[in-house]
Amino acid sequence: MNKIYLTTPIYYVNDIPHIGHAYCSLATDTLARFWRKKLGKKNVFFLTGVDENSQKTVEAAKKNNKEIDVYLEDMSQVWKKTWEELNISFDDFIRTTEKRHINTVNKILQKIYDAGDIYKSKYKGKYCSGCEKFLKDSELDENGLCPEHLKKPEILEEENYFFRLSKYEDVLLDFFEKYPDFLLPEKRKKEVLNFIKSGLEDISISRENAKFGIDFPFDKNHKIYVWFEALINYLSALGEDKKNVWQNTHHIIGKEITKFHCVIWPAMLFSAKIDLPRSVFAHGFFTINGIKMSKTLGNVISPLVLAKKFGNDALRLGILSSFEFGNDGDFSIDNFTNFYRTKLAGGIGNLFNRVVTLLHKFFNGDKILFISNKEENKKFKNQSLANFDKLLEEKKIKAAIDFFLKIQDDANKLLNETEVWRLAKTNLEESKKIFEKLLIYLELITEISEIFLPESFPEMKKIIGDEKKVGETKILYKN
Ligand code: MSP
Repeated sequence: MNKIYLTTPIYYVNDIPHIGHAYCSLATDTLARFWRKKLGKKNVFFLTGVDENSQKTVEAAKKNNKEIDVYLEDMSQVWKKTWEELNISFDDFIRTTEKRHINTVNKILQKIYDAGDIYKSKYKGKYCSGCEKFLKDSELDENGLCPEHLKKPEILEEENYFFRLSKYEDVLLDFFEKYPDFLLPEKRKKEVLNFIKSGLEDISISRENAKFGIDFPFDKNHKIYVWFEALINYLSALGEDKKNVWQNTHHIIGKEITKFHCVIWPAMLFSAKIDLPRSVFAHGFFTINGIKMSKTLGNVISPLVLAKKFGNDALRLGILSSFEFGNDGDFSIDNFTNFYRTKLAGGIGNLFNRVVTLLHKFFNGDKILFISNKEENKKFKNQSLANFDKLLEEKKIKAAIDFFLKIQDDANKLLNETEVWRLAKTNLEESKKIFEKLLIYLELITEISEIFLPESFPEMKKIIGDEKKVGETKILYKN
């Protein structure tokens, strides 16, 4: 495996990004940075973007008194700029109103049509415009409401075009058996398998007389159902020069959209005779102080506001370390502030400052005086990096962060327990061994920071200096 393709979901543009969206983008970005470090920049392709052809967009444009095109232009910029400001290192940003997407959608739909998997029929069902999908009775809550949006779905009866999803039931079950790691974590796979086993129904893939969206290629009175084209974005972004990354594609998504990515999308690809992505990872959702984030409750957190106050690196590490990637969890400003104070300002920042100040004081900043480059040190460093790599290869992001923070804890402990600043006064020779170990810790932290604290990384490199001398100290994280 020498190339990798990572994707986030494409986000709806009917609102601005909140911290939940940022969580998904930051996680994917962290994985992209990890793989770039391992495989080289040109071997990683990281895609994000926006999902524009949704009914929600039309409503949001109206609410904002904007022409739809103007609204889409403005909002896609808001999303793109937000990710840029948060230092999300995407390689491409796709919009589903772009020509390259519409062309790819037409090609794929033609393939699905040629496979005999698109037909016309009448359909009556309960449709939730929040989810942009028909819901089965078994999917509604006890009051007949959509459990996600707490809204009563509307009854829609239309003559629509259908995709023969039912045809792929066994194909999908075989596939999941053959590739047990296709969908992770395990609990999401169980849900999806149960869903498939409960019987797949064909799905409606067009909307008659819809005013906005991509034209249905086989009947101009219809538009394509938004999910049926949105999923194709992952292929639309691959020009001829990028086609070879597809075989190692990893979709990072939220747990609420696994059925689309692990049932409908694979069935579409089977039908179009295109290889499936390598994996889908569905992360959990987080609550704020134990409560679901919602506009009505007024507890929606803006990632930009937090980043402005604490910095992009703190935002990234703070939210990704709140709970294991794949689980649900909670986020609170209090915990975040505490994390910042103890692990960044008081932890890593303090460590760099103290060690380098001491090296200046006792050795005039000269590393050569005590660096022995012992095999044992090199081994410790390489082994630590190998352990760390393994965690991120398995997408265990929080475990990898914990591993990283433990290096910092160990280093601070060594510094405090040996009281090396005292030792150096009485036994300089003996203190060299401690300083050498401390420098190894700083090197390790710096190396991993390229992934976890990318904005601090160049600063850290300057502080630890070159082979001969340490650099100047600098406050990495203000208290
Ligand atoms: N447009 C679709 C995806 C199409 S992909 C072909 C969509 N968009 S979305 O904007 O509603 O949500 C996108 C993603 O945002 C979710 O899958 C999830 O990753 C993330 N999250 C939204 N709210 C979240 C939380 N409260 N917590 C964690 N992630 C959240 O669905």
